[in-house]
Amino acid sequence: MTSSDAISDAQDAAKRNLWLHFTRMSAYEDSDVPVIVRGSGAYVYDQHGKRYLDGLSGLFVSQVGHGRTEIAEAGARQAAELAYFPLWSYAHPKAIELAARLADLAPGDLNRVFFTTSGSEAVESAWKLAKQYFKLTGEPGRYKVLSRDIAYHGTSMGALAVTGLADIKHPFEPLVPGGVRVPNTNFYRAPGFVAGDEVDFGEWAAEEIERTILREGPQSVAAIFLEPVQNSGGCFPPPPGYFQRVREICDEYGVLLVSDEVICAFGRLGYYFGAQRYEYQPDIITFAKGVTSGYSPLGGMLVSDKLMEPFNAGTATFLHGVTFAGHPVSCAVALANLDIFEKEDLLGNVRANEAAFRSTLEKLYDLPIVGDVRGAGYFYGIEMVKDKVTRETFTDEESERLLRGFLSQALFDAGLVCRADDRGDPVIQLAPPLICGQEHFDEIEQILRAVLSEAWTRL
Ligand SMILES: Cc1ncc(COP(=O)(O)O)c(C=O)c1O
Repeated sequence: MTSSDAISDAQDAAKRNLWLHFTRMSAYEDSDVPVIVRGSGAYVYDQHGKRYLDGLSGLFVSQVGHGRTEIAEAGARQAAELAYFPLWSYAHPKAIELAARLADLAPGDLNRVFFTTSGSEAVESAWKLAKQYFKLTGEPGRYKVLSRDIAYHGTSMGALAVTGLADIKHPFEPLVPGGVRVPNTNFYRAPGFVAGDEVDFGEWAAEEIERTILREGPQSVAAIFLEPVQNSGGCFPPPPGYFQRVREICDEYGVLLVSDEVICAFGRLGYYFGAQRYEYQPDIITFAKGVTSGYSPLGGMLVSDKLMEPFNAGTATFLHGVTFAGHPVSCAVALANLDIFEKEDLLGNVRANEAAFRSTLEKLYDLPIVGDVRGAGYFYGIEMVKDKVTRETFTDEESERLLRGFLSQALFDAGLVCRADDRGDPVIQLAPPLICGQEHFDEIEQILRAVLSEAWTRL
């Protein structure tokens, strides 16, 4: 069989047998399914050998970049020694070592690690823990969770109830009861009365959390889930003072603060955890993605000593677990991944270069379609608008034509993996591997400039 026959067979099988996630499969009736076959550093390659800059780290995952043989070898060594054993009643050395290392890196007294295999499972676990904790400590009425408008927290039924995106929830309703929304921190779209000052806006957004807790009844609210920088909607950083005020409100009403760091942990914002960058102390941190840089799946939650306390006594047991959580290969891979973070000072690289990343993207402000460039660290969203002065956004039809009809494919064809999304207003999201530097920022900027200029002429 020639290599072009093999490629064509793979295309046929992909169209016939593989179900892509969050993907309109009909889009591939008349065009090829993109197939990525290998990666090296900040680049990936398709089946034809064409190179793409991985401007999204796969899916906010590949922090150390692709093709790191030392991580692959650590995984292979572990598979040969002990491929699998559960964390149900037993421990294994790499889970112990990784738990201790994560507890050491985490802020404050988040000393207990409960592993999962994914971010959704981490969020699901955190909500279940909050519920059981309150049942054990004499407040059984606390079951609700607050989270922000258009925030994404995962797809399993519980995590979906925490998620604030109506469109991806509707097909699966009724969901787990108890998910309640509060405003997000999109300053570009702030209500008029606080649009002039970011501190005022942050205070208002935090006070809305207090008002929501009071409206729902404080004795019914278990937790609030917040990302350090909200991904969905296009990278909303927290206004100054926001998290400090949220912490005070949580303390006042006995509500647990869960920092959902599935994207923001492990260097994305230049720190091991986003809570460290914004200087707040969560009760739980959920993580996944970057903990292994994707060389093997792993997620989990870091839990405070206070939350662990009732589970340390008598017959109390957290009645929750999954077979592959804390898989030995994934734990070995995570440790090798963290070794690279240290050896190559990846946090230092992000901190040293984030201003350059921002200013390179800000060059795009001279394009009429670029309304807002926002984010932190190596995590940015570019909001596209029809009118920069009025900030008018696109109609649904224009958004469909712009994002799905043109931008996503055009950016990929131009050699950039990123994400054109309209879960809030239309945005392009960027999260390159943490090894990137100015030459990668320039490449991103040049591709975006060409494709966004073309998009404007098609409107
Ligand atoms: C903040 C946040 N929480 C949870 C999840 C769900 O993670 P997973 O896709 O690993 O289930 C995601 C995924 O992107 C996320 O960004």
